[in-house]
Amino acid sequence: MDLPPGPRSPAIWQTIAWMTRPGAFMRGVHARYGDPATIRTYWTEEPMVLFSSPDAVRAVFRLDPAIAPAGQSWEFLRPFAGAHSILLLDGEEHLRERRLMQGPFHGERMRAFAPMIAELARAELGGWSGRVVALERMRELTLEIILRVVFGARDDGEVAALRGVIDGALDTVRSLPWVLAMAVVRKDLGPRSPWGRFRGAVERFDAALFELLARRRTQPEADGEPGSMLGLLLAQRDEDGHPPDDRHLRDQLVALLVGGHDSSAASLAWAFERLARHPGVVARLREGDPAYLDAVVREVLRARPALTIAPRRLLEPAEIAGHTVPAGTQVAACLWLACRREDLWPAAAEFRPERWLGEAPAPNPMSWIPFGGGVRRCAGAPFAEMEIREVLRVASALTLRPSRAESERARRSMLVLVPHRGAEVLVG
Ligand code: HEM
Repeated sequence: MDLPPGPRSPAIWQTIAWMTRPGAFMRGVHARYGDPATIRTYWTEEPMVLFSSPDAVRAVFRLDPAIAPAGQSWEFLRPFAGAHSILLLDGEEHLRERRLMQGPFHGERMRAFAPMIAELARAELGGWSGRVVALERMRELTLEIILRVVFGARDDGEVAALRGVIDGALDTVRSLPWVLAMAVVRKDLGPRSPWGRFRGAVERFDAALFELLARRRTQPEADGEPGSMLGLLLAQRDEDGHPPDDRHLRDQLVALLVGGHDSSAASLAWAFERLARHPGVVARLREGDPAYLDAVVREVLRARPALTIAPRRLLEPAEIAGHTVPAGTQVAACLWLACRREDLWPAAAEFRPERWLGEAPAPNPMSWIPFGGGVRRCAGAPFAEMEIREVLRVASALTLRPSRAESERARRSMLVLVPHRGAEVLVG
């Protein structure tokens, strides 16, 4: 069974293009080979078939997890994510874990976190003036939000302790040379080797998290406190009425950290990169219309989706929008292409929030997929949208200019695409 066509260059070159010029790489592959197309990178052991038409995307999201487990595509995260991680589970186990984790993301409970996020955003943006690399600041802010709102850190000491061990674990996987070294040499060759350093960082992270859990079990959140997601997760009960053990809670918190930190920081950085080049949008945001704010959030996520693919590993051949793809292949809904294809979006390259305010024709829901879809759709999407809304509300008071007129291109930082100069803006 033949795979759809794709670049013939060696996997190492495709990996470098995928990492350093991901936008140009995906655009080039689509322009030359169409939809679907097959790429080969060190990202996955198997070739990956990218789909981006709405019908194919829907078919990928509907694949039976028994033949197309998504968890297996994230296997490389296992050393950090842990055995209970929602990211790695499939089928019934995945659905059970999803039910448990989605509790804190519902309605009123989740909205109760908005004032805390707005306050953290005001504290961060209040200090901005002159040249600011928004990506660096957004990494700090979104981590602070996760530590306070999700992990329930109560004071600066707890935040600092957790921040140190998280940076230790994430820094190893954010550097391009280290990631390439880890992809090529897949073994732990001692404490100084890439995998050895990563393992040590994860051990330090786990020790700090277990200490936090021990403290929270002895000093739970009092009624009337703003509370945290950890407080809600500690109150979970499985179908037999059992509370989660520390290992399970640790894996849930890590899934929220891995899912929610870099993705939100990258999306917010892109928001600053776009807003600095569209002063008219900032002026309209300042008027405070909630529908316009929502439109800006949707448009940032469309024009610059932070995650590029939602991959599934095929254990059996599958028929996807008229293409039969053999077993042993990764198939992926290409979020980046779907959100930006010229034939799916009028003036796709333009940043135009107005397209969300009743313009016809309404976009096909399978082409706005920054959060993926199906049973694996981002569990934190409502939280992410709220977080971006709160930060942009505060940001609309700033006067922003780009440090250079031309738009920033995308480069890959671990799983997400970020602006290549880090969304460098001039404030004031
Ligand atoms: C703008 C920010 C975000 C973007 C663009 C994003 C995007 C995504 C995408 C594309 C997926 C995979 C979907 C698939 O495979 O079909 C995903 C999964 C996930 N995300 Fe997000 N995410 C964001 C923020 C968050 C936040 C803030 C949290 C939590 C606090 C979160 C938690 C998760 C979790 C737990 C999963 C795994 C879901 C599962 O496997 O069932 N994400 N996200």
